[in-house]
Order: sequence, then structure tokens, then C-alpha cells
Amino acid sequence: MLDTVTLSAIVRLVGKISSILPLFILSPPIFNIDGVQNELSFLKCDPLLYNINVKGIVGEGGTSIVYKISASDSLKAREPKLYALKSGKPHSSKKISHECAILNRLYEVNIPGIEKCISICTTEERKQDDSQSFTSIVLDPYIAHPAPIKLEVEDVYQLVDIVTYVIKRGITLTDLQYLKDSDRDQIYLIDFTEAVELSPLSNLSNLDVIRIRNFISELLSIIPYSFMDEAVQRILNNFDISLNDEGFETHNGIDYLQSVIYDILLAYRGLQ
Ligand SMILES: Nc1ncnc2c1ncn2[C@@H]1O[C@H](COP(=O)(O)OP(=O)(O)O)[C@@H](O)[C@H]1O
Ligand SMILES: [Mg+2]
Repeated sequence: MLDTVTLSAIVRLVGKISSILPLFILSPPIFNIDGVQNELSFLKCDPLLYNINVKGIVGEGGTSIVYKISASDSLKAREPKLYALKSGKPHSSKKISHECAILNRLYEVNIPGIEKCISICTTEERKQDDSQSFTSIVLDPYIAHPAPIKLEVEDVYQLVDIVTYVIKRGITLTDLQYLKDSDRDQIYLIDFTEAVELSPLSNLSNLDVIRIRNFISELLSIIPYSFMDEAVQRILNNFDISLNDEGFETHNGIDYLQSVIYDILLAYRGLQ
């Protein structure tokens, strides 16, 4: 038989446990950050990054898991900065390095909407089975508050301008994805894992033309119908194409890319 002292001790103990228990039950499902850190703590980045601190998972796609991290790009940096670390899933290393190469090719200080790939990282100790090794890239900016996806006219202009810029730099994308950084009011075109480099623009192949057509079709397909005229006009302006009775004229001589763009828009919209 339990005496009253033991009984009240048990009651108090049960009371304590039940007051702590909800904390465990109600706490949000935390991502397996410990596991992540174990894996990512072996990151070896080139150029070097210091004090890498993994804060959590922010997204996932077919080729990667994307983490929010803080890190410093020099030992002297007073405060670490936030970045997105795009960590390739097994067998995705080539795509991830490819994305960094494409972003390096596209990045320019005064061109908004393109992330900068500031470093490429690998696991320091590759596991014996090579399929377990992985490549990650560090992307700037980390977009903290991606806005909901309803495009306004200003967003449409930004998106069209970024896509134009990418095509003019000889790159096309499939599976077009964007994020809107609501802090900076800026659209970013993201996910260049499937980006393709075209032949020189003066010498586009048939396949290149198909790629450009698909890229522009994807762009137009995500633009709200109410802004379609603005989008088409912006594309024409960006490629320096103006329409006249016979069709179109260009301001700097008929260029093959311009006629390709014109044909695509004509097929899509029935320009007149
Ligand atoms: N710079 C970034 N800042 C914040 N979140 C990002 C950033 N880049 C990607 N993400 C998030 O990660 C997700 C997956 O990224 P994505 O580049 O599409 O990877 P994948 O190549 O695996 O498809 C995105 O949908 C987005 O939610
Ligand atoms: Mg993706």
C-alpha cells in the first residue's frame, strides 16, 4: 500500500510531467536541423565562407533542398549575412554547379532580379559511395519574405525585363520560376538548373529558336491576361522592334533574333 507521502509525491510528479508535456506535443514540427548541420558542417566552400550557420529549410525542389544560412565572406566581416544555400540532392551535383556557372555568367551589379552565386561548396569528406557526395551553392540574396504570387503590372515589367536580359545573354530556361522579394519589391528569376546556353545570337540554330519560343511562351503563360498587352509591348520594346503596316521594323537593322521574337509574338497574340 502506498502511504500518503509517496502518493502525493507521485501526484506532484505526474502534475509536473503533464505541465511540460504539451510543450513537446505543441511545439511546431522542427526540421531536422541537427541532422542537417551534421551533414552541412562539412561544407567546404570556394571562395571560403566563415561561420556558416544553418538556420532552417526554406524550400525544396526536384534537385535540391534550400536552406537559410548565415555566413561571412571574410574573417573581417563584422556581421554575418543571410544567404540561401541550395544543396543538391544525390546525383544533382552537375546541375547545381551548372546553375552557379550560369548565374555567374548572368550576374551584373546593375541588373536586378538575378541571384548571385557567391560560392560553391562540397562535402569535405566524400562518402565512399560517390552518389552520396553532394554539391551546394550559396545564393545571394536570401529572399526572406517571398510575396504571394499574384503578379501586378510592375511585376510583369520586371519579369519581362529579366527574361529579355537572360535571352539577350544567350540563355534560355525551362520550368520558369520566380520569387518576389517583398522587402525590396523585386522579382527574382530563380532555378537555373535547367538553363541552356544558346549558340551565338547571330547564328541561332532551329533548336535555339524552339528554346526561345518555349521560354517566351512560358513567360506569357504566367502573365495575367489583363496585363498581356503591356507584356507584349514591353517585349517588343526590349528587343527594339516596332510595328508598322507591313509587319515590323527594327531600329538597328533586321536582326535574326528580332524576327524570331516577332514571329513568336505573332503566333501567340496575332499582332497587327
Ligand atoms: N534565394 C532564395 N531565397 C529564399 N528561398 C529560396 C531561394 N531560392 C530558392 N528558394 C526556395 O527554394 C525552393 C526550391 O528552389 P529551386 O531553385 O526551385 O530548387 P530546385 O532546382 O531543386 O527546383 C524555391 O521554390 C523557393 O521556395
Ligand atoms: Mg525548382
